[in-house]
Amino acid sequence: MNGNRTFTMIKPDAVEKNYIGAILEKINSAGFTIKALKYTRLSRAEAETFYAIHKDRPFFGELVEYMISGPIVAAILEKNNAVEDFRTLIGATDPAQAAEGTIRKMYATSISANAVHGSDSDDNAAIEGGFFFAQRDIH
Ligand code: CMP
Repeated sequence: MNGNRTFTMIKPDAVEKNYIGAILEKINSAGFTIKALKYTRLSRAEAETFYAIHKDRPFFGELVEYMISGPIVAAILEKNNAVEDFRTLIGATDPAQAAEGTIRKMYATSISANAVHGSDSDDNAAIEGGFFFAQRDIH
């Protein structure tokens, strides 16, 4: 049985373009409840830790530079089958491949500036949520 929580970030490109409200509205309309929410900016060390799983990939440096380039919104979301349903809602990592109506199709510009992050498994959703939020921040 799949879990009912996932973790997302609205990335610097989408924040800079004032898409926070539109993206949160799409998330709520798709049936996700916000359990925790934070407007913040990652330090280099935090971005490197958050994306450590990608540290040997050729795009790691670009990814970290990009993720520290401006503020982000971090959130824990709840819905049944959360991880899979959220990945369907946001669309493919590369917005050029994302389906019509998905968040990345509507708001992302490139594979790096792809508007939102979504956890890829229940385990990572718990790890990533725990990276940003203490128990007292989750309601
Ligand atoms: P995200 O879902 O946040 O998880 C890892 C991120 O790495 C991904 O979104 C993309 O933004 C980024 N990424 C993946 N592949 C590439 C690539 N080929 N070039 C640049 N960035 C990438």
